[in-house]
Amino acid sequence: MNILVTGGAGYIGSHTAVALLDAGHSVVIMDNLSNSKAEVVANIEEITSKQVVFYEADAADPVSVERVFKAHKFDGVIHFAGYKAVGESVEKPLDYYYNNIVSTMLLGKNCLKYGVNKFVFSSSATVYGDNDVPLDEDMELGKTTNPYGETKAISERILTDVAKANPNFAVSLLRYFNPVGAHPSGLIGEDPKGIPNNLLPYITQVAKGTLKQLKVFGDDYDTADGTGVRDYIHVMDLAEGHIAALDYLTAGVHIYNLGTGRGTSVLELIQAFEEANQIKIPYEIVGRRPGDVAATYADVTKAKRELDWEAKRDLHDMVKDAWHFEKRLGK
Ligand SMILES: NC(=O)c1ccc[n+]([C@@H]2O[C@H](COP(=O)([O-])OP(=O)(O)OC[C@H]3O[C@@H](n4cnc5c(N)ncnc54)[C@H](O)[C@@H]3O)[C@@H](O)[C@H]2O)c1
Repeated sequence: MNILVTGGAGYIGSHTAVALLDAGHSVVIMDNLSNSKAEVVANIEEITSKQVVFYEADAADPVSVERVFKAHKFDGVIHFAGYKAVGESVEKPLDYYYNNIVSTMLLGKNCLKYGVNKFVFSSSATVYGDNDVPLDEDMELGKTTNPYGETKAISERILTDVAKANPNFAVSLLRYFNPVGAHPSGLIGEDPKGIPNNLLPYITQVAKGTLKQLKVFGDDYDTADGTGVRDYIHVMDLAEGHIAALDYLTAGVHIYNLGTGRGTSVLELIQAFEEANQIKIPYEIVGRRPGDVAATYADVTKAKRELDWEAKRDLHDMVKDAWHFEKRLGK
């Protein structure tokens, strides 16, 4: 298949581009590099020894999107492009609503116009709001607590309505849990700008000495050790989940959790990192961070049953590969 990957220079998009190329598909990347670097595209090509067509272009700009659809015959679109920082979305709601929703609408419109029937969307576990764990796809969605989460919930609804109105349209809404780690080559990985919002990039920067010590937000949650519990999934497992979603995609809307189904606490992740990489991570416990919930993890039975996909890599692989990538970054 020839697949348009929006946001393909970003963290999850780049790993998925590698998985697509490895599986024998062709890839066209459209990314405006607002949160990534052009060299990532070269690194994707180096890893796979295959060529990628790259457009430095904005998926929320009608002219740019149509130009790409006119120039290629696509079999499907995987839409990663978007802003993703929860805190920033509270400060700049319009930027988030505009970028994340307009891009979804424009891609949908062009898919219909140019006869592209497969659409895979990067959604998030955040759409479950404060539902009880484990989170499963049949749950009524909870109240999202920030504009970022709302852009995901709205995009899901838009794509669902498009599929209702167009019986040939096939949509996969993939709700990611907490992607971490990197490609084992160390050539691509998560390279956030500024101070990382996510735990593992923070840990790797402390390990490297870029940051002094880790802040653990709260140790009084109702969890085994009191710290927050999340469902961490290796980014290569997540990438492979997209290939399975594309392979099994039929008309209509299909929703899948992509996680491991296992919850890991902050302290467990620190310990796994220290043991795997033989590096001590200094940390201090501070107050809870507003908006954080005690525990999220996925019910992953639907993806296993319908897509024949499940995460294969464990915590050890995640923390090893994350550190391997960070060391190679050379900052
Ligand atoms: N990383 C996570 O924890 C996580 C969890 C759940 C969902 N998601 C979603 O998955 C997708 C990918 O996330 P990521 O972690 O790889 O983020 P990322 O920021 O690394 O990648 C997103 C990419 O999209 C590009 N981009 C943003 N707006 C664009 C636009 N208008 N036109 C073209 N390119 C644009 C950025 O330059 C970047 O390369 C996002 O939609 C995100 O909301 C991520």
